[in-house]
Amino acid sequence: MDSQNPPRQCLMVIFGASGDLTKRKLIPALFDLYARGQLPEKFAILGVSRTAFTDNEYRQKVHEFSPQTYADKEQWKSFADHLHYHAGDSTKLEAFAGIKQHISQVAEAHGTGENVVYYLSMAPQFFEPTILNIGASEMVTEGRRYCSINREKPPWQRIVVEKPFGSDPASAAHLNDVLASVFDEEEIYRIDHYLGKELVQNLMVLRFANTIFEPIWNRSYLDHVQITASETVGVESRGAYYDGPTGGAMRDMVQSHLLQVLAVMAMEPPVSLDAEDVRTEKIKIFKAMRVPSYDEVPELAVRGQYGAGQLGDQAIESYRETQGVNPQSQTDTYTAMRMFVDTWRWGGVPFYLRSGKAMTKKSTQIVLYFKPTPHVLFRQLAHQHKANQIVINVQPDEGIRIRFEGKVPGHGMHVKDVEMEFDYEQQWNAKPPDGYATLLYDCIRGDQTLFKHRDEIECAWKAVQPVLDYWKANPQEDLPNYAAGTWGPEAADSLLAQDNRYWHNPE
Ligand code: BG6
Repeated sequence: MDSQNPPRQCLMVIFGASGDLTKRKLIPALFDLYARGQLPEKFAILGVSRTAFTDNEYRQKVHEFSPQTYADKEQWKSFADHLHYHAGDSTKLEAFAGIKQHISQVAEAHGTGENVVYYLSMAPQFFEPTILNIGASEMVTEGRRYCSINREKPPWQRIVVEKPFGSDPASAAHLNDVLASVFDEEEIYRIDHYLGKELVQNLMVLRFANTIFEPIWNRSYLDHVQITASETVGVESRGAYYDGPTGGAMRDMVQSHLLQVLAVMAMEPPVSLDAEDVRTEKIKIFKAMRVPSYDEVPELAVRGQYGAGQLGDQAIESYRETQGVNPQSQTDTYTAMRMFVDTWRWGGVPFYLRSGKAMTKKSTQIVLYFKPTPHVLFRQLAHQHKANQIVINVQPDEGIRIRFEGKVPGHGMHVKDVEMEFDYEQQWNAKPPDGYATLLYDCIRGDQTLFKHRDEIECAWKAVQPVLDYWKANPQEDLPNYAAGTWGPEAADSLLAQDNRYWHNPE
């Protein structure tokens, strides 16, 4: 995490340039960086996808997708000069002569040299052929040709790989092998936009830049931890994808984003903030995640699927009625799971994870519940005591709240829970930057801290695979089992109730 390391000139080649993610997230994030002056002066983007567009048509498409993002006309105009387009099918080796030539032209025109970020922003079935074609076309020199001329700053080529990264441990390992056949691990950036969220990064600061939190951040003081990522949206236009082999809340959210959040929350202090040291600690947590046995699954995981419902005055159709979704679908649009991290620090502390679509509120929260005091002094009030809590609002209303007991003013000794709050926007008078902007900036600077190592991904799949296997073999008859606009199926409440606990629903 080297904030001193400025970005060097480079070209970003985005495969999947006409796709939704590129228009919704990547180009806006690059525009944001550009407007803040955080992109290198010599920088260009070459979008590649199959549809035929001229540069100007592509720029127009990007602009039309979200005109409010590019409302500053001058900024847009000068940014758009850096935006180019190439029509080609990256799964076909023949297309690469043209792609390569276009890369050289754009690099020449903008003076970006041989530094290139290849960004795979496409459907996962296209990852492998595209990676292999990049390799076969000799588009990865990784500075080898230049090392003896300038050892300090050889040119580099990096690759950013989006999720879904595989659909089970074997396919993830295979994709890792394919990447390794073309790129060194130091040049592979497996992106998870949750790691770019300010409050997730702030977890490390909270824990390791303060004295007051770390001593109580363990099994001696914590009763359990909850991590929730709830969304109000259903699957909308992504029905066919979401109902496919890489969809479902377990794969789409828990295996990827939530386990990453858990790892940052649970890791030991790294020896330095270098990417390697930070990732080494995270990997240890992934390796310590207890892999459940097949037979344990019904006891520790709950799946849900939304039926028709109401969110405010908006009616939401049932998941099974969504276009592209099998009317008998067994896909989980909601998942809750109890997990353990078998380390000295976390032995016996349950981590409850849940994520769902079409729920009451959009929120990502980490809640740490502390153990009760011995209640020697306030014994008679013990039943009214609420557990001390640290609530980390990852989004929205980014901030941290600490809940503890206080004395009610006046005569007598009455106790009630009170809160202390750090509100990100109020404190910094600014909105947190988008996670993608943070991550793209880091990638251009060559900082892998907030990107996933291959071991993290493979361990994350192993931790959830028994649940996926069990669910596949045992269809659930009561789906859909929660109405859109609610907090999920009753079975998820029972999962905690059987442990004498309850979910903290974001207010
Ligand atoms: C994506 C998932 O990775 O994250 C989506 O594929 C989900 O299904 C999205 O909606 C949520 O991201 P955020 O940043 O809005 O919480």
